[in-house]
Amino acid sequence: METSRAWWRSAVVYQIYVRSFADGNGDGTGDIAGMRSRLPYLERLGIDAIWVNPWYRSPLLDGGYDVADYREINDRFGTTVEAEAFIADARSHGIRVLVDLVPNHTSWDHVWFRAALAAAPGSDERARYHFVDGRGADGELPPNDWQSVFGGAAWTRVPDGQWYLHLFDESQPDVNWDHPDVVDEFEAVMRFWLDRGAAGFRIDVAHGLVKAPGYPDAGTATNDGRGQPESLPYYDRDEIHPIVRRWRRVLDEYDGDRMMVAEAWVDASRRPLYLRPDEYHQAFDFDLLTATWDAADFASIITASVASAEAVGSEPTWVLSNHDVVRHATRYGLPNEVEPGLWLLDGDRGLLDEARGTRRARAAAMVTFALPGSAYVYQGDELGLPEAWDLPLDVLQDPIWHDSDHTVKGRDGCRVPIPWEPTGESLGFGSSGAWLPQPPEYAPLAAAAQETDPDSTLELYRAALALRRARLADEFGFELIDRGPNVLAFRRGDALTSVTNMGDDAVALPGGEVLLSSGPLVDGGLPPDTTVWLVS
Ligand code: NOJ
Repeated sequence: METSRAWWRSAVVYQIYVRSFADGNGDGTGDIAGMRSRLPYLERLGIDAIWVNPWYRSPLLDGGYDVADYREINDRFGTTVEAEAFIADARSHGIRVLVDLVPNHTSWDHVWFRAALAAAPGSDERARYHFVDGRGADGELPPNDWQSVFGGAAWTRVPDGQWYLHLFDESQPDVNWDHPDVVDEFEAVMRFWLDRGAAGFRIDVAHGLVKAPGYPDAGTATNDGRGQPESLPYYDRDEIHPIVRRWRRVLDEYDGDRMMVAEAWVDASRRPLYLRPDEYHQAFDFDLLTATWDAADFASIITASVASAEAVGSEPTWVLSNHDVVRHATRYGLPNEVEPGLWLLDGDRGLLDEARGTRRARAAAMVTFALPGSAYVYQGDELGLPEAWDLPLDVLQDPIWHDSDHTVKGRDGCRVPIPWEPTGESLGFGSSGAWLPQPPEYAPLAAAAQETDPDSTLELYRAALALRRARLADEFGFELIDRGPNVLAFRRGDALTSVTNMGDDAVALPGGEVLLSSGPLVDGGLPPDTTVWLVS
């Protein structure tokens, strides 16, 4: 049961993409040793928790979201003993650790899937996944029209003629949540990590899991990975919720306010269902992440999210970037009508205004830190890193590039290793190279280069998070203020007022003492693309 005001209600959670954070053993890939060595940096940044992207044994065909063993650490990253020590170490720095759980699918290297391939159609081994006969005279056509999120059919045929379902890459077979082994196994895996000190879980594809009986065609609905409630037979089904309630009971058996956050790409109107008091503690708000730079849009998304979380006793959960989307410093540098993920491949480079993207990214971060609820920071956001949008095609590793038939460049550009030092072969990431090349723009943005610069993005994050901790730790109201079109302004009781100019012209500053601003204030005015925090 939750203690008075649980830590997660106002936590700032830092997302670590293990492969790209810090390389402790010099093999060009990030690892647990590297993560441990950077804990003092993270403590100094002022975060409350870390979410670690999947660190399990995996062929890494989808960056670790293809799990071969949920109880074992990938040997490129370290050992399970090291993972446990990392969790304890983080705690001694005042930081909790959330583990990424992937319950929609396993890797094709998982012992269950290997057993399923070796077993006959109709066997219990196959029943842990979705193995189905095909259509057509000889079953030569996929069982239905479902498309993989990454591109192409969501079914792959095995030599005996059956097909198996994979909503993502063919190396990620979906498990069957009607099978009792699946239910029992994921509960056991949760206990395994909770026993090792994990503060909880980020749950992958929380809107997936259950598929409509009989596998009906999806028809004209398309699978863009973002969920289309009611219309897709494999997303956001009501049968998901009993599973979530079982998980919640497991978490509630443990002390210390363990929590889980859903990666649920569902319509905002359906999100509260996942946040009922006996279900998830939080669900990511991707509406803000997909919003373009527009004050009215931001205001309506924020108001709706605050109200809907409050209605079910949860908290809103703000995200600007993660390992799946174009970094927001680049998104905000593109005109609103450009789709950043498609622009990456062959968009007009002249459309990108990097300086504007950086200004807006700094302003947006301050918005999320001033809002009620919890904020998620993706590694490198605090350095203002842009997307590595110019990666050569021959280095790409994201399965999207292959599965989309080379029509979508994919997510590697937001997964490029972190620059820690302004010089050196991999900019301090490790002692040798980096598994993806770092663009030249990353050198001056290195953490060590920003440490000494009071105007840097790193120092802005540190200052903002310190102020947030000092002023916004308790519950305060949230109230939008009308400061005219193109201005996003809100008050958090007496603690703080946040004002962002999202238009093209400077606006007047409201009265009060300025606590922090994301950029210089000019002649008492608030320039475009700037956020200021004030107190009266
Ligand atoms: C969502 C994860 O964030 C993404 O990286 C992954 O490819 C898919 N789920 C499949 O696990």
